[in-house]
Amino acid sequence: MTELFARYGDTYRVYAPGRASYTYVIHHPDDVKRVLVTNHKNYVKGLGLDRVKILLGKGIMTSEGELWRRQRYMMQPFFHRRVVTQYAQLITAANERFIARWEALTARGELVNLTDEMSELTLEIVLRSIFGTDLDRLTEKLGGNPFEVVTKDSERNLQFAYKFRSLTRLVAELMARRRAENTEHFDFLAMLMEARDKDTGRPMEDRELIDEVMTLIVAGHETTASGLNWTWYLLSQHPQVADRLHAELDAAPEFAAPSLTDMESLPYTQQVVNEALRLYPPGWLLSRRTLEADELGGYAIPANSNVLLPLYLLHRHPKFWHEPERFWPERFAPEHEADRPRYAYMPFAAGPRHCIGETLALYEMLVHLYKVARHYRLTYVPDQPLELEAQINLRTRYPLHMRLERR
Ligand code: HEM
Repeated sequence: MTELFARYGDTYRVYAPGRASYTYVIHHPDDVKRVLVTNHKNYVKGLGLDRVKILLGKGIMTSEGELWRRQRYMMQPFFHRRVVTQYAQLITAANERFIARWEALTARGELVNLTDEMSELTLEIVLRSIFGTDLDRLTEKLGGNPFEVVTKDSERNLQFAYKFRSLTRLVAELMARRRAENTEHFDFLAMLMEARDKDTGRPMEDRELIDEVMTLIVAGHETTASGLNWTWYLLSQHPQVADRLHAELDAAPEFAAPSLTDMESLPYTQQVVNEALRLYPPGWLLSRRTLEADELGGYAIPANSNVLLPLYLLHRHPKFWHEPERFWPERFAPEHEADRPRYAYMPFAAGPRHCIGETLALYEMLVHLYKVARHYRLTYVPDQPLELEAQINLRTRYPLHMRLERR
């Protein structure tokens, strides 16, 4: 896609004989804005969604129309700043457990498999934020974390989908037990079970609840993991950036369980995260389908056409970014914000279907960097060439191994 963009520019189409139709690929911020924001009503999710649906059923990532609107409206308040910051303790504790584990590995002279660790850390955080203390009960009963297949199985095939969907039984049992025991919980599952439709007062059906739980597990875990994996990779390649980050963190107060506001007091750390998500947006390719005909980049797009929006290339568009290939967090400082159009950057997409978990994801990334980079340095020890694996998520093809050093 990088080559095609270089050759054909902002708008091109590719004929797909299997579908007997063209797929349109767009890169200009104005067109991206039209599809996601100003004319969003004319678009539904497109190519590739069938695979995601096998995993997630009809959760808000994959649903459309009235169902999507109802569910999104009910779930939106769960992701409000006020709620997100209540996860401070949970996120901090998970990071501390992982740091202790890395210390132990390092004492034995071993490297940290950073890619796997990021995946496990973010899985643990998302599972605890959904199931709360019930996660320990589940783990105890089953002699291990039943959701571990999500990180352990790197294949994303039908077999994985089958295993993953069989976890839905566990969620159903857990909901039944909570109802029977009538206990109080603070977690996403409790919020989902208590949510009511604003017009009808109706709660979600069990099927809907389960699909939303599975959606949050998948959407909330791999994306954040790959964001952090890339952030550490970039920091390890740019010592001056790492130095500046360390200087900011060294000067910051000791936050026992950092709140969202605490993390927002670290401007450079935020710029580092934004810049990592620019160069390697985990959701690197958005896909949509037109309902009615539209016009994009001056071309007529027929009804029922697939349209692809490669965020990876939008974020490196040479017309809108100065030295686009360079890792330069300072470009996100307030004085440079006006250098580019608003819709040239959107790692969490934009418009009504933008990422519901954006605040939580950024918070999680910032707390992790704060906790780790304040005391440690991670050095990449390459054993394989670095390659991109651009599937649903943008990952490193091989796990990155890093040496942990106390600063
Ligand atoms: C760095 C981390 C993350 C990135 C880069 C990211 C990115 C995105 C993007 C680009 C979309 C739009 C997809 C599309 O329109 O096709 C999206 C949607 C979504 N994200 Fe995230 N996400 C992240 C973390 C999270 C977290 C932590 C959660 C929840 C716990 C979450 C839940 C969702 C959900 C439910 C949707 C679907 C929203 C809808 O269609 O209404 N994401 N995300």
